[in-house]
Amino acid sequence: MDTTAAIQIQSHLTKTIGKVQHSTLMGQAPKCIWLTGLSGAGKSTLARAVEERLYRDGLCSYLLDGDDLRLGLNRDLGFDEAARTENIRRVAEVARLMLDAGLIVLVAAISPYRAGRRMARALFNPGEFIEVFVDTPIEVCERRDPKGMYAKARRGELARFTGIDSPYEIPREPELRLDTSLVSLEDCTEAIVEIVVRQI
Ligand SMILES: Nc1ncnc2c1ncn2[C@@H]1O[C@H](COP(=O)(O)OP(=O)(O)O)[C@@H](O)[C@H]1O
Ligand SMILES: [Mg+2]
Repeated sequence: MDTTAAIQIQSHLTKTIGKVQHSTLMGQAPKCIWLTGLSGAGKSTLARAVEERLYRDGLCSYLLDGDDLRLGLNRDLGFDEAARTENIRRVAEVARLMLDAGLIVLVAAISPYRAGRRMARALFNPGEFIEVFVDTPIEVCERRDPKGMYAKARRGELARFTGIDSPYEIPREPELRLDTSLVSLEDCTEAIVEIVVRQI
């Protein structure tokens, strides 16, 4: 082991202010609420509604939206499988740092591959990572088409669009599954908030 590595490990071990201290100060149990699903499924809408609700209840959260992060941290990444996996790896690492800072982190990202979501989950302790499958049928997502992306993909102007010409691997054991075509925004929000506050 070289000395630089030894010093880094040493400083990591001697860190005395961490997740426990931060979250105690904030009076909340930090969590990562990971919303996965097709474009237009309702991830961002739902995450924003949950944030507002938590804020009103005096809880500190932060929303990491995949679309926003692609404008900055992940702007060098494309949409092939390797880039999407790297995208999710970075988002998960940032989420973990925020969890260590005591926050309730909401992630809204398509995260289409099981392996990527498994890798994300592995960064957290049991019970900290809550996978929410926003399971809205693709026909409904396409009808909503909030950003006009499905129309573009159908016209062939957008390649590798999830659900059209790029796969979405359905979560097998999510902590929560919500079909926003059947359940209202209020009830979806409530279902997530209930999980967040369960351990406080
Ligand atoms: N129950 C619901 N939950 C979330 N979004 C809903 C719901 N019902 C209808 N919608 C609508 O569906 C669209 C979802 O868009 P968005 O949240 O941007 O999806 P995503 O972030 O998954 O791509 C919004 O226009 C939203 O108003
Ligand atoms: Mg979104």
